[in-house]
Amino acid sequence: MDAQAQKKAAAVAALEFIGEGMKVGLGTGSTADLFIDALGEKVKQGLNVLCVPTSIASEKRARALGIALSTLDETPQLDVTVDGADEILDPSLVLIKGGGGALTREKIVAASSEKVVVIADQSKLKTEATFGAFPLPVEILPFGAAATILKMRRAIGKLGMGGDLVVRQHGGAPFVTDNGGLIVDCHLGHISEPEKLAGKLGRIPGVVEQGLFVGIASVALVAGAGDVMVLERPAD
Ligand code: A5P
Repeated sequence: MDAQAQKKAAAVAALEFIGEGMKVGLGTGSTADLFIDALGEKVKQGLNVLCVPTSIASEKRARALGIALSTLDETPQLDVTVDGADEILDPSLVLIKGGGGALTREKIVAASSEKVVVIADQSKLKTEATFGAFPLPVEILPFGAAATILKMRRAIGKLGMGGDLVVRQHGGAPFVTDNGGLIVDCHLGHISEPEKLAGKLGRIPGVVEQGLFVGIASVALVAGAGDVMVLERPAD
């Protein structure tokens, strides 16, 4: 199975977690898209679900497939959210998310869900030795961005880490999130203490949300060359 087929296998496996009448959070990204497509098929076959999307892109995709949609304001408690990830740390299931820039809505929706199912191909699965190679996305307010980035750099330095902090660009201008925020990609190379880093970045004024998801994922479905592995987050 190539990476695309692995993403699809993980996405289809996540259907096991969806039952009749459930309220479902829809993630963002290429793997989450495959789940939305698979869910759309089930809806066509008669499954009733009510879904809350984590981005405008996922909302459009789900709407086109005839999936019933709601918002967190109308439906503040969800049964399950299915989403992708940029990296998954084994075995704690700490995630790096935000490669698509939707991390803030993704985290709010995930934190409003009874269960969070992460779907990925095996390239996303990392160990303590390899976690953090993907640049950590952090959403910040445009107001005072340079000052916020300076504080982020200092906070990262205090944990003995460093690397380039780059404002994400798109089409020659700063990328703007669905919330009107900017994304700073932190090229750290390796993250050894994700919980500490999450705490420090999260406390900086101007930071809307940072892309480390700690204690949020319940289960990860990771597709390899053969089967789909089911990894459960150990009890706290
Ligand atoms: C979107 O903001 C991200 O958190 C995605 O879930 C993550 O980047 C994974 O995307 P892919 O499934 O496209 O790799």
